[in-house]
Amino acid sequence: MSEFQAIERRYLTDAWRTSDRAFPVRSPIDGATVAEIADLSGDAGRAAAKEAADVAWAAFERWRRTTAFERAEVLRRWHDLMLRDRERLARAMTLEMGKPIKESRGEVAYAAGFVRWYAEEAARVYGTEFPTHAPHKRALALRSPVGPVYAVTPWNFPAAMVTRKAAPALAAGCTFVHKPAEQSPVTALLLAELWREAGGPDGTLQVLPAADPVPLSDVLMADPRIRKITFTGSTEVGRILYRQSAETIKRISLELGGHAPFLVFEDADLDRAVVESIACKFRNAGQTCVCTNRIFVHASVAEPFTERYVAAAEALVLGDPLDEATDVGPLVDEAARGKVERHLEDAVAKGATVRTGGRAESGLRFLPTVLSGATQEMLMMQEETFGPVAPIATFDRDEDAVRMANATPFGLAAYLYTRDLTRAWETAEALDYGIVGVNDGVPSAPYAPFGGTKQSGIGREGGPWGIEEYLETKYVSIGLQRGS
Ligand code: SIN
Repeated sequence: MSEFQAIERRYLTDAWRTSDRAFPVRSPIDGATVAEIADLSGDAGRAAAKEAADVAWAAFERWRRTTAFERAEVLRRWHDLMLRDRERLARAMTLEMGKPIKESRGEVAYAAGFVRWYAEEAARVYGTEFPTHAPHKRALALRSPVGPVYAVTPWNFPAAMVTRKAAPALAAGCTFVHKPAEQSPVTALLLAELWREAGGPDGTLQVLPAADPVPLSDVLMADPRIRKITFTGSTEVGRILYRQSAETIKRISLELGGHAPFLVFEDADLDRAVVESIACKFRNAGQTCVCTNRIFVHASVAEPFTERYVAAAEALVLGDPLDEATDVGPLVDEAARGKVERHLEDAVAKGATVRTGGRAESGLRFLPTVLSGATQEMLMMQEETFGPVAPIATFDRDEDAVRMANATPFGLAAYLYTRDLTRAWETAEALDYGIVGVNDGVPSAPYAPFGGTKQSGIGREGGPWGIEEYLETKYVSIGLQRGS
């Protein structure tokens, strides 16, 4: 029996249920089984999805009628319980997907931050009264929840990507059916336990894990009672969900791949630029959608920047993610390592120089790697590597840096380093991205809008923008009975 016995083989609809089928979640640390998880694949998934839609609809009829203050109270308790169980949640995350334990603790705080933000935001969902053309008419725009939401979350943020979606949805009065990533469902189930302990009513939040989520997902996507789909993950899967959502005209939010450029201008504070770009690049072993993928440095400072960057990458501790000292843990699985290796081989074959790293130290642990001489035709300059590899390219003119940075179908996050305010402002405006960090390598926060342009997605999560995604606007026109 694992330390996560309480959630093993269980899934949540209007109550906890036990599945007779299960799949193992294996740790990227050593391949050991972290927990046996309920497997709602195939027919079991189709049946569970049908039941989940029934439950979500019935619960929505009740939840939408609670006051914003009642919903806020439940969210506040959920937030407190997450912090109470911070260590347990962090350990689950590290075991199931390999994030260094100190980063996992940070993620629990980040995840709880969304819950606190939307507990507060619940009571600030204001409608509007607006002027009309007729003296006897009064007009209102009311805000109401969109309805039951289906959410699909990724493995790289097992807690924060759940709460970034669930907290605004639940605050708005929607109900929430969650399909967690196959690699990291343990944290999601623990969060659901805490939601119930916080007093989350039956059916408001459901969790349906599956080794093969397609049958389950197809049923939920076809059900007209599911009014919204929210997804974080690959552009490829996002496209399928976008197409499927057309059938029942669901509201949709997609947070898809990125390919973040990091521009270092010749007037930048190089030491700070190195610190910020290292944090941005090697966070979660390079496995976040906003991690720097391409570093463009002005040719006149390229060598001093690269030398300092290499030294900083070599100082990172690669190791067991449960150790307090570890900065970079293992990649999530063999497929992830395979992609990193393919990208490296391609870059070296096209003329890049490996300045440090360049190989797996053992198993899924990949050495922090820095390449110089990167050029636009290399695979890693065209698509996300999703690993601890930093390719450095150079530029001579600001407009070349911006052109290369924008030469991608993706537009999630971009970064730039300069001391010149005009250059910072103009470059931020010219970058076709949803998020721009100016002298800031880690801009994500619960109160800020997160999301991309182009093929990086639709919609925004976080801050007041995040709850808008779960609200409808209803126009109410009132004709007063006196006058005309
Ligand atoms: C992501 O990789 O999708 C999330 C990263 C963040 O919230 O900073």
